[in-house]
Amino acid sequence: MGPGPTRRPAFDLTDLDVWERRVPYEAFARLRHEAPVAWFDEDLPHHGFWSVHRYADIVEISRDTARFSSATGVSFEEPSPEDMEARRTIIDMDPPRHTKLRKVLAPSFTPRAVAVYEHFVRALTNAALDAALPLGEFDFVHHVAKQVPIRVLARIMGLPEEQLDELIDVGDKLIANTDPELTDVVWGRDDTDPYRRYPFRSPYGKQLWDMGRELVKARMVYPTDDLLSRVVAADIDGERMSEVDLDNFFSILVIAGNETTRIALAQGILAFCEHPDQWDRLRADPGLLNAATEEVLRWSCPTHFMRRTVAEDATIQGAGMHVGDKVVLWYVSGNRDEEVFTDPDRFDVARAPNPHLSFGRGGPHMCLGAHLARLEVRVVLDELCRRVSRFELAGDPARTRTNFTNGLKRLPVSVQLAKGSPPVRPVHPVRSTAGGSP
Ligand code: HEM
Repeated sequence: MGPGPTRRPAFDLTDLDVWERRVPYEAFARLRHEAPVAWFDEDLPHHGFWSVHRYADIVEISRDTARFSSATGVSFEEPSPEDMEARRTIIDMDPPRHTKLRKVLAPSFTPRAVAVYEHFVRALTNAALDAALPLGEFDFVHHVAKQVPIRVLARIMGLPEEQLDELIDVGDKLIANTDPELTDVVWGRDDTDPYRRYPFRSPYGKQLWDMGRELVKARMVYPTDDLLSRVVAADIDGERMSEVDLDNFFSILVIAGNETTRIALAQGILAFCEHPDQWDRLRADPGLLNAATEEVLRWSCPTHFMRRTVAEDATIQGAGMHVGDKVVLWYVSGNRDEEVFTDPDRFDVARAPNPHLSFGRGGPHMCLGAHLARLEVRVVLDELCRRVSRFELAGDPARTRTNFTNGLKRLPVSVQLAKGSPPVRPVHPVRSTAGGSP
């Protein structure tokens, strides 16, 4: 396993002190040139991982499910086969089972299916902005970025409004399971063995399942037209889904669709605080909205990496990989690969083409919610363009202590309102409990 006698490279990609300060873009640039595929040792109980830094190699490995499996999960953790089985979601499956289960969700996330939510996303965005903008200075994560994605998911899945705050809280504790400010059970620090069968090896994984089970039970008795009802009724090879599959469907949807989109929104606004000329450019030319959305996604890269596990011996960039080796695909590095992107460290709202890796690329696991996430980012940018002429940082952004996501816990901003921006309407909640149809 691994390359035999190994060394720890000068730079440690698992050092969370680094990621809590900033994304190590310069280190990735060096690695792309000097060690496109490198072996990194890890502290026990893990033995180490192959770290893949170039765009082309990431795409090649993502496509090759025969040699690079997802069945041992997509994080640094090494779950036992039994533990993995208990909490396997579609992201941790290989074809053909993956293909069958993905088909259950796919019709709800096509461009056409998600387009019907545009008015709803706009209304949610404006409700959040009506509350936030009069403050002049506010935390963009709390007031805007956190508010939209979970409510859109709630609408599609049929989640009750009164549980949304709890879902956000539990989702945060899971995805940021290495940040002591967000969870009291810290992976890598605390004994997480009792929770090894729950998502993210966390007690909050069980809390999420419990919430899902109540909702699933209700759909079994009273089906509606929401996504949860369709999942409950799905027929896989003549059988209904097992309780384990239902638990895991619920958790992947809540986890994958909420925090990621929030990060794109918050990191996008941070980019515009730091590049006000690009905000002026976008406001002056609404035709750039789609290109700007893609650039926000490339730049923010909400999910830094996905992991695969070698299923057949392979050689990539001269590195001999053996069955069982862990392989980490750094999308965050691929998004700055100078072989693919001209001047990759420039934030350019008119960038085209922009084949970024933020949703993965080419492989069967490519983000199922990509069209929905794009819609949300585009609509929020559009409404902000109408209403805000300038963003400025009003304090230091707080980064989540993790190398998995590019999470922001807080983003203090001050805003200048645009001339002729719509008058602030009375704040009224936009309800999201109406089921699947907008
Ligand atoms: C900006 C927001 C988002 C980003 C950056 C993002 C990123 C990703 C990435 C990197 C993957 C894995 C790709 C691969 O391994 O090839 C993925 C998979 C997935 N995403 Fe997203 N995602 C976002 C929003 C969403 C939303 C809104 C949903 C909707 C519920 C969603 C649902 C999923 C699901 C279900 C998978 C697993 C697909 C599979 O294994 O077949 N994501 N996402």
